[in-house]
Amino acid sequence: MPAHVAIIMDGNGRWAEQRGLPRSAGHRAGNVAAREMVYGALEIGLRHLTLYAFSTENWQRDTEEIVAVLEAIRRELDEGPVRDLDVRQRWSGNPGKLPEELVRSLLREERRTRARTGLTLTVCLNYGGRDEITRTAAALARAARAGDVDPDLIGEDDFARHLPHPDMPDVDLLWRTGDEQRTSNFLPWQATYAELYFTPGHWPDADRRDLWQAITAYGRRRRRHGAAPLVSPRKPAVPTRPE
Ligand code: IPE
Ligand code: IPE
Ligand code: MG
Repeated sequence: MPAHVAIIMDGNGRWAEQRGLPRSAGHRAGNVAAREMVYGALEIGLRHLTLYAFSTENWQRDTEEIVAVLEAIRRELDEGPVRDLDVRQRWSGNPGKLPEELVRSLLREERRTRARTGLTLTVCLNYGGRDEITRTAAALARAARAGDVDPDLIGEDDFARHLPHPDMPDVDLLWRTGDEQRTSNFLPWQATYAELYFTPGHWPDADRRDLWQAITAYGRRRRRHGAAPLVSPRKPAVPTRPE
């Protein structure tokens, strides 16, 4: 069982286009699928679920589509059913450029749900992995300037401590829907050793059974983190050469 599943929820636009609907309808349907994953995660007792909702690159889209994505998320934060579940909601991303009202809703939900213990749901909104790493480097530089860290002794742990969410665990399973096999600037620090899982369907068509299938596939993977594979003590790893 993974502790942390992160999802690149891709394919909303194509889902809508295939139905002759505006892309905004795809984003609304995508929100329903996100809700469904939260139910699925709670049902199996997953500890951390992280959803990629809007990237720092997504500002390149038409204003109408951007407004639709952000508005659907704000409505979910203000009125959605997840509000009443045992879910600690967090937000990862850059506040710059986001509407103030949305930032207020994100921070309010973080505050309101901070004591909950069931599932930690992190919504990545105006999130970019390079942006996160750049801001972390800046925080570390400020700490060095203040004399709190010695630049000659900086290690990976010091860097991790200065991330915007230092308590986010490493990603075990990174799942992307929408038939694309790339990570699109998502969690480069936290997902270095994640198991990658790609599915062809569009995000609005996904439901909790797809999450469980992803977790089952993860259970069959053999993670090594750079170590040599374990060999059974009964069988020699290399056949002995006859004398
Ligand atoms: C993912 O779906 C949602 C966002 C990036 C906001 P897309 O909108 O990227 O859908 P496709 O990939 O165009 O189908
Ligand atoms: C990644 O999807 C971002 C989100 C799901 C929020 P994109 O559709 O933006 O990624 P690319 O453009 O296919 O890499
Ligand atoms: Mg896409």
